Amino acid sequence: MRNEFPIGMFDSGVGGLTVLREVVRQLPNESTIYFGDTARVPYGSKSRDVIARFSLEIGQFLLQEKVKMLVVACNTASAFALSALRARFDVPIVGVIEPGAKAALAATKTGRVGVIGTEGTIESQAYTEAIKALDQTMEVFGQACPLIVPLVEEGWLEKPVAEAIVKEYLLPLLENRIDTMVLGCTHYPLLKGLLAKVTGPDVRLIDSAEETARSVGRALREHHLEADSERGPAFRQFYVSDAPEKFEKTGRRFLGDVIPSVKRVDIGTWM
Ligand code: DGL
Repeated sequence: MRNEFPIGMFDSGVGGLTVLREVVRQLPNESTIYFGDTARVPYGSKSRDVIARFSLEIGQFLLQEKVKMLVVACNTASAFALSALRARFDVPIVGVIEPGAKAALAATKTGRVGVIGTEGTIESQAYTEAIKALDQTMEVFGQACPLIVPLVEEGWLEKPVAEAIVKEYLLPLLENRIDTMVLGCTHYPLLKGLLAKVTGPDVRLIDSAEETARSVGRALREHHLEADSERGPAFRQFYVSDAPEKFEKTGRRFLGDVIPSVKRVDIGTWM
């Protein structure tokens, strides 16, 4: 019975749909409930306490919706709130940082890894700690790129201004002679082409969405929570804390598909 419950996922807004997209691709039998905190986005510039509180509120909402697992599909929330969520809720919880760290370690040959993300993610040092926990000898170089999220949401993926901004952030990072770069923010996979152009072919780009979906599959197996494919098709449900129409419109690019019926919930006040 519990196996047929959906997986609960959340992000500050549309960005986590890049993670949902991978989960759907890799685990098509699993039903999902996605929550985008569009009333309180962005998370990337806010402090740890605030993000932990928002994340606990959303976790509470999703558990009330009877989810069997939580996926924190936001790098900033994973960096700031994963331990608070694990301390509060008694379901398996997967964030995006550990999977990204593992993938970076598998990819690097020189042990020099770059990480790009929001201000919060980079200041938290969460990727540095996760990579060093796997191998103490790794050298990790972080770079906050706060202007990339609005660029991607605006759809300015190929404009000269996008290239100028990406260069401003990445050229100093590349001086550290990294051979691997973690895309430590939900929005960056959409800008992969331009990022690869600026880093050049010698730097491997790590998209933590793919690796996170693999971790979700592993956690489901470990906890014997896999859905039974005989039980009928998986369902997709979407909730947001502000304007469903806007989420449907912007989110389509992130999910790569039409988003069916999005419902609005007043997350700060419903408890
Ligand atoms: N989803 C956030 C992240 O991955 C980016 C957007 C935001 O700042 O809220 O860190």
